[in-house]
Amino acid sequence: MLNGKKILITAGPTWEAIDPVRGISNHSSGKMGYALAEQACALGADVKLVSGPVCLPPPEDVETLQVLSAQDMLAAVHHQLEAHSIDVFISVAAVADYRPAEIQTQKIKKSADQLTLKLVRNPDIVSSVAALESHRPYTVGFAAETENLETHAYNKLLNKNLDMIIANDVSKPDIGFGTEQNQVLMITREQKLDSGRLDKSTLANTILLHISKHLKT
Ligand code: PMT
Repeated sequence: MLNGKKILITAGPTWEAIDPVRGISNHSSGKMGYALAEQACALGADVKLVSGPVCLPPPEDVETLQVLSAQDMLAAVHHQLEAHSIDVFISVAAVADYRPAEIQTQKIKKSADQLTLKLVRNPDIVSSVAALESHRPYTVGFAAETENLETHAYNKLLNKNLDMIIANDVSKPDIGFGTEQNQVLMITREQKLDSGRLDKSTLANTILLHISKHLKT
């Protein structure tokens, strides 16, 4: 089904350092992104995975690059895009929207009752891929939402100029972050499909088959 296709996937959280021992991150386990990488490989694709810090072994037969921060992830993604002619980019990673303005070189000592952390915006990786003028891959984002799932996801599809967005309700404890199962809406400008609740591996297969229908042969 995906024979001959080159697929680049990001997975996991990013880690935005505050000092040598602390940082800002989130609950992404990497399971959804790794399941997509494994299934894409099983469907015949040549798969590259850029992963934030997770506790999963790298999927077999998938070239996996480990990164920490959003800036590292951005650089690794664009390096892969320049080195290979990528057909599909799937941005599953829960990338931190903000990072500390400065990383302290020494561990911050506990002294004052309050500590203010200044944050600056991180680059938007999936938007930067969707904005490519040449060799732009079919670009798929995920939207992790806690309310107004469909509306917020559709706005992300438009604002980030994506071809497809996979809307994930992360307010429910048994789907989304860290879970074995998931349920998503697969949204394009023309269509919306509910996956139903599936284990992440089966869902990955469903998402990839749906993406494959939109690819030029
Ligand atoms: O890893 P698991 O535990 O299995 O959990 C899976 C998941 C919940 C992380 C996954 O299904 C999911 O929803 N991933 C998207 C998480 C997210 O960051 O969503 P967002 O709505 O904040 O971002 C929208 C899109 O922009 C995403 O494709 C994201 O990768 C991308 N983005 C966001 C910020 C940024 N600076 N750069 C980006 O590329």
